[in-house]
Amino acid sequence: MDFNLTEEHLAVQEAARDFAEKELLHDAIERDTHSKFPEKQVKMMGELGFMGMMVSPDYGGGGMDTVSYVLALEEIAKVDASAAVIMSVNNSLVLWGLEKYGTEEQKQKYVVPLATGEKLGCFCLSEPEAGSDATSQRTTAIDKGDYYLVNGTKNWITNGGTSDIALVMAQTDAEKGHRGINTLIIEKGTEGFEVGKKEDKMGIRSSDTHSLMFFDAKVPKENRLGDDGFGFKFAMGTLDGGRIGIAAQALGIAAGAYERAVQYAKERKAFGKTIGQHQAIQFKLADMKTRIEAARLLIYKSALEKDAGKPYSESAAMAKVYASEVAMWATTQAVQIHGGYGYVKEYHVERMMRDAKITEIYEGTSEIQRLVIAREILK
Ligand code: CAA
Repeated sequence: MDFNLTEEHLAVQEAARDFAEKELLHDAIERDTHSKFPEKQVKMMGELGFMGMMVSPDYGGGGMDTVSYVLALEEIAKVDASAAVIMSVNNSLVLWGLEKYGTEEQKQKYVVPLATGEKLGCFCLSEPEAGSDATSQRTTAIDKGDYYLVNGTKNWITNGGTSDIALVMAQTDAEKGHRGINTLIIEKGTEGFEVGKKEDKMGIRSSDTHSLMFFDAKVPKENRLGDDGFGFKFAMGTLDGGRIGIAAQALGIAAGAYERAVQYAKERKAFGKTIGQHQAIQFKLADMKTRIEAARLLIYKSALEKDAGKPYSESAAMAKVYASEVAMWATTQAVQIHGGYGYVKEYHVERMMRDAKITEIYEGTSEIQRLVIAREILK
């Protein structure tokens, strides 16, 4: 067992850290305050290869492994969790499945521009009445011969308002239940495809979350991804990888808050010494570092299993549930260590605590992750 990162991994980590500190940090608070999408930075992330990291170079990607991907995500999330989720959705939820199951024509048309960052993608599974219970899809894609007629509403869609390409899960044959669901590639500008309400969120405020609506949208048959009826299994398989990405995002939030807390503990004085010289703060920092490292190891293990072609559904769920709960807990500790300064926007940890919460909710709540793990234990 080797716990050392390779030279290549270290280079990716450094590039992501450098980008985050130079390009994301300075106006992260302002973007959060005004819910402003980091348009310029997302473009730069495409140019630097962060938007299609694991895609083959044949289709414009970086051809990197999942460990490189989680290293980059951690560094970006340390500074700006919103930028991290935009990147995570494009890489894990959109490109992974398009490259794995797409036809050659679909890959040339969609994977190439998404992997190079020329275009942005979103993943549309959740609905007003189908969140955790994802088989209950009400969006319909009726087979009309050479096209599908799509009607319905998707909710909580990250990159919903800014995407060019949407992967949409919809029910074609209700009698078949989840085996009647298809995944369709739907381009922005398709008649009947409308962007709905923008959500005013507690955290990750500069990522854009919308509902999307379909009113008799005609989607050509050649835009179905995978075999007829494969849509639900496709979504579940995609979410396994997505959960590794969200775990890395949570890890970054926790680690970013921890680093700020350490810095503050070394500077702030109380009762004649720095607060870091008080045991109450030392114990907090020691616990934060230990739990963050444990989360990191769970994430690396899952990433390595994915790269080795082993099953990783359970390890991804374990990494996600643990890292997201560490993120919520560690950011709360960081705010506590900062005292009153932690409760105002200037010190970043206030934003990080709000950002952490969503990692316990999206791409499957903590309860769903426990369900996935328990099913593996008991099967
Ligand atoms: N990979 C491949 N197939 C899988 C799978 C996986 N990981 N997990 C389940 N399946 C298959 C099963 O084998 C089964 O197929 P068969 O019947 O043919 O054997 C089928 O899917 C249905 O499985 P279940 O009976 O287990 O389904 P269920 O209704 O009990 O639900 C669940 C299981 C784990 C609760 C699932 O519904 C789930 O993960 N829900 C959460 C959904 C979620 O994460 N939503 C977030 C959406 S993304 C998002 O947040 C938006 C964003 O922009 C970030």
